[in-house]
Amino acid sequence: MDSRTIPMDFNTVNQQTRHPQRVAIAAVERPEGGYNLITIEWFMRTSIQPPMLAISVGHTRFSHVCLMANRRFNLWLPSRGQADLARLCGSVSGRTADKLAGVDWFRGRHAQLPVLQGAAAVYECEVVTQVRSGDHTIFVGEVKHSWRTPDTQPLCVADL
Ligand SMILES: Cc1cc2nc3c(=O)[nH]c(=O)nc-3n(C[C@H](O)[C@H](O)[C@H](O)COP(=O)(O)O)c2cc1C
Repeated sequence: MDSRTIPMDFNTVNQQTRHPQRVAIAAVERPEGGYNLITIEWFMRTSIQPPMLAISVGHTRFSHVCLMANRRFNLWLPSRGQADLARLCGSVSGRTADKLAGVDWFRGRHAQLPVLQGAAAVYECEVVTQVRSGDHTIFVGEVKHSWRTPDTQPLCVADL
């Protein structure tokens, strides 16, 4: 055994090794109509064919209410110049704020959910299954359409 490799608590190990990690923003539909945005660090690709992406959403988030009511999301990978939006969407709740106000967006092709203008990537997803994971729910979405802004790089958590 390599004695340089030592036992350490999960949070410390995770904190020290989780970068670089891209950051995403999910656009979801409000139960009463309109849209909400949530910053998401915990997302991953889960299938090659069909392409699928999963997001993990805390049970306390307003976006969780939205996803239980309307089972689709657009996953935005903001570009490097869009850090302010990622900070905003990760620090205030859609219960009390309209996070889409002032955002430059247009309607997507699948279900017309918002696509962020200038995003490095956007994936339009339909939820096909979900798994409870402690205090979060993993929503797995099948990608229906994807968008790219050429010559842009995705924002990383470390850039925030
Ligand atoms: C960098 C960053 C990453 C985050 N990642 C997640 C995540 O993966 N899942 C989650 O449920 N919340 C995550 N959050 C917290 C939510 O974005 C935040 O609580 C948000 O205000 C919830 O908004 P809502 O109540 O409108 O859904 C993250 C926040 C930040 C700043």
